[in-house]
Amino acid sequence: MDNDRERIITQQDTEEDVVLNISLRPTKLSEFIGQKSVVDNLLIAIQAAKQRNEPLEHILLSGPPGLGKTSLAHIIANEMGGKLTATSGPAIERAGDLIGILTNLAHGDVLFIDEIHRLSKVVEEFIYPAMENYQIDFVIDKGPYAKTIKFNLKRFTLVGATTRSGLLSAPLRARFGIVHHMDFYEPEDLVTIITRSAKLLNISLDKAAALEIARRSRGTPRVANRLLKRVRDWAQVKGDGAITRDVALESLKNHGIDEMGLDTIDRKVLNVIYTTYQGGPVGIETLASTLNEEPDTIVDVVEPYLLKAGLLKRTPRGRELTDLAYRHLGLKQRERPKDLF
Ligand SMILES: Nc1ncnc2c1ncn2[C@@H]1O[C@H](COP(=O)(O)OP(=O)(O)O)[C@@H](O)[C@H]1O
Ligand SMILES: [Mg+2]
Repeated sequence: MDNDRERIITQQDTEEDVVLNISLRPTKLSEFIGQKSVVDNLLIAIQAAKQRNEPLEHILLSGPPGLGKTSLAHIIANEMGGKLTATSGPAIERAGDLIGILTNLAHGDVLFIDEIHRLSKVVEEFIYPAMENYQIDFVIDKGPYAKTIKFNLKRFTLVGATTRSGLLSAPLRARFGIVHHMDFYEPEDLVTIITRSAKLLNISLDKAAALEIARRSRGTPRVANRLLKRVRDWAQVKGDGAITRDVALESLKNHGIDEMGLDTIDRKVLNVIYTTYQGGPVGIETLASTLNEEPDTIVDVVEPYLLKAGLLKRTPRGRELTDLAYRHLGLKQRERPKDLF
């Protein structure tokens, strides 16, 4: 299997994921596992809005890929009894692309904009009055006949998701009434998620196996569900279909997933920092080009977990391996010239 190409932690949903998501995505807040403070705050906001018969304030969800931002957007629409329309920052090329979408929203509907940090400046400015006053201005005709028409929208809720809240402009961020950051999940929460998924997919899985999968899921439900499926296939072909701890361990090892849940590209990042840059520090652009990857992929997808797991640290001069990284990879700490600065 080509682990470089078929990344388990990729940001985008694969076709297989899309099918899987339909069956596994929680539909109510009460089914959403973990992220307790986010869920509690949303429950209150939703209940209060419903009591006042008002739409919910605009909500910004940030955090690494696979933690449940899209799922939450769907849940919010569902709990508010509204319809969800989904689009994404890069998909909206011109302000005009949004007119149809916005004018079709009904009271209480949710407009979900994924990767909202990638909206163009022009589109962003077009959205401000829509968020603020539920109004859009659009210009018809050109030259001397040009006219600006104001159009009133229904009171909708914009839910924005981003892996990089730092890249959001201040005026856009200020227009969200509710802002939540989602963090990596604890293994216990992932065990619950994996156990729930196994039940929904009719997979026989024991508790010890669920824990081993959880511990290797990079704190990420999407990864947990993907690993569960890999292990299921393995159990079906190599065993009697039941997932025991041994089956899980054997299959995960075979897929190149190590005890910390690192996959091939994670290890490649760490190894390149070691072999090419003497353990760092190395700037992200340089690192990405050595790896032949987009800097965004490293920053959004690979790095957050390596930082969280304590394998990598950020310094003003770039990324550096930690002692834990040396131990985990079984590497010897390199002799480094004493800092001259
Ligand atoms: N808290 C959760 N409880 C159960 N399943 C979850 C949870 N969060 C995410 N998932 C699962 O993980 C997958 C990825 O979640 P998604 O909402 O697409 O993440 P994001 O939009 O943040 O990348 C979904 O298919 C969903 O089934
Ligand atoms: Mg998403």
